[in-house]
Amino acid sequence: MASSGSGNSHEAWGSRIGLILAMAGNAIGLGNFLRFPRQAAANGGGSFMITYFIALLLLGIPLMWIEWGIGRNGGRYRKGHTPGMFAAIWRHPAAKYVGAVGLVVPLVVMIYYTYIESWTAAFAWFSLTKDYWGHTTQEGMIGYLQSFQAISPEGAPVYHKPWTPYAFFIGTLFINIYVLSKGISGGIEKLAKIGMPILFLFAIVLAGVVLFLPAQPGIGATPWQGLEFIYKPDYSRLGEPGVWLASAGQIFFTLSVGMCTLTAYASYLSKKDDITLNGIATAATNETAEVVLGGTIAIPAAVTFFGVSGAMAIAQGGSFDLGFATMPVVFQQLPFGNLLGVAWFGLLFFAGITSSVAMLTPITAFFREEFGFKRETVAWSLGALCLVFGLMHVYWLEHGVLDEWDYWAGTFGLVVVAVIEVILFMWIFKPNKAWESMHQGADIRIPQIFKFIMTYVTPLYLLFILGWWGWVDAIPILLNEKSAGGGVLDPANTPYITFARAIIVLFAITAVVLIKMAWARNKYDDRKGFVEVDRSGEGA
Ligand code: TRP
Repeated sequence: MASSGSGNSHEAWGSRIGLILAMAGNAIGLGNFLRFPRQAAANGGGSFMITYFIALLLLGIPLMWIEWGIGRNGGRYRKGHTPGMFAAIWRHPAAKYVGAVGLVVPLVVMIYYTYIESWTAAFAWFSLTKDYWGHTTQEGMIGYLQSFQAISPEGAPVYHKPWTPYAFFIGTLFINIYVLSKGISGGIEKLAKIGMPILFLFAIVLAGVVLFLPAQPGIGATPWQGLEFIYKPDYSRLGEPGVWLASAGQIFFTLSVGMCTLTAYASYLSKKDDITLNGIATAATNETAEVVLGGTIAIPAAVTFFGVSGAMAIAQGGSFDLGFATMPVVFQQLPFGNLLGVAWFGLLFFAGITSSVAMLTPITAFFREEFGFKRETVAWSLGALCLVFGLMHVYWLEHGVLDEWDYWAGTFGLVVVAVIEVILFMWIFKPNKAWESMHQGADIRIPQIFKFIMTYVTPLYLLFILGWWGWVDAIPILLNEKSAGGGVLDPANTPYITFARAIIVLFAITAVVLIKMAWARNKYDDRKGFVEVDRSGEGA
């Protein structure tokens, strides 16, 4: 019989509220406040919202429960990492290698996400000190942002020291690794208990301020017109596949499904813990933060100061223009604008950090459970790795390396992982066992219809997305016929992009080798499965 590994990683959530806050913190991220408004505006507002809610019901919520189920099932054998979770479901030698995606995808996303997160810390500081005051137009602020990112066009004025983005990146990464080194309940749960209330407070204050913004001279639009644009049902663009795909992609991103981090968090639960109610509560909290708060801040503010068509044009522009250029322009016009700026970028920072700390949990669990390393050792070593590759993004941002990683890991990779998860849980583990597993310790029963949805509708929907994206995006991007970031492809960037891809491949090969080593070291027998660990007395 196989052993259950080195297993010195006795961890559990401290309390139910802590668990929900951490799970919600995982899901609520930059996606809720930056990506959602932009996607909604660029894809027809009211039309987008209809397809968005369909994707929430047919993809998001089912995957949320599936991930909690897979994670907690892995936890029975003390497996907080995807290779172990997949092997616990599918007793086949290939299962663990398929699980390599669950180590690579979150690691890759962590590295560039932390860099973006560091911009929010920087801009909170620049708001407080009124550093960008005087750049009162959209173009002016974009110039300021580019100067900070060190990607200004030739000859454009530079307002920052060259080391500024590095300093904020290193500081942000340091805080992340520090929290990770303190563990699940001592680090991640504590951070969520502090960060999430601050996030909601800042978001509510900003939403309140935005809703009462007066119409501006010469523009004449009100924030309510922004709300109307997003929320008024509109059927005109429902025939466009692009709108359906964009909303499905947003559901993925915002709920953090397909990243193997919800599964990692759920592995610290016991059989007696509820996952049905907690899973839906997490989704509901995220959707409130996204649709109610995320929808009420950036777009209505942009509409008030730039009009409906101006705001739409901004939303079609660069990914970060709305958050990092438009909002600062707005703050400069308002009383206590610098404090509102701190609230906005502080909100983004807390949204970001409660997500990024999740991304290294699967790989940390892997090294601890399978190789017996100490938590601190793993955390700081991973920190060094993230530092090296993160610097690549700071240095080469203009060459599209960040967009490349964001596409392969943060967009396409998520759908690949989700397809694997549904197939493993609903088809290999079988619907009845999956259903029963999800309902152990359950506080509510999931409506029966979801069993059908999870078994048939969710996988078909996912395969359709995978096929479509594979055909229109992934293949052309791989062949260097299309740019991963959506802009024009600059052939001069090809070597950088090839290098960025090679690193992902290198990570994947390393993961496979490490998995092989771990299984040999712990003498696991793939056909027999793992030994269950007694976890009574643990959990939230
Ligand atoms: N949900 C996060 C957001 O809205 C982003 C994200 C996607 C994420 N997958 C994740 C965060 C996995 C943490 C872990 O910004």
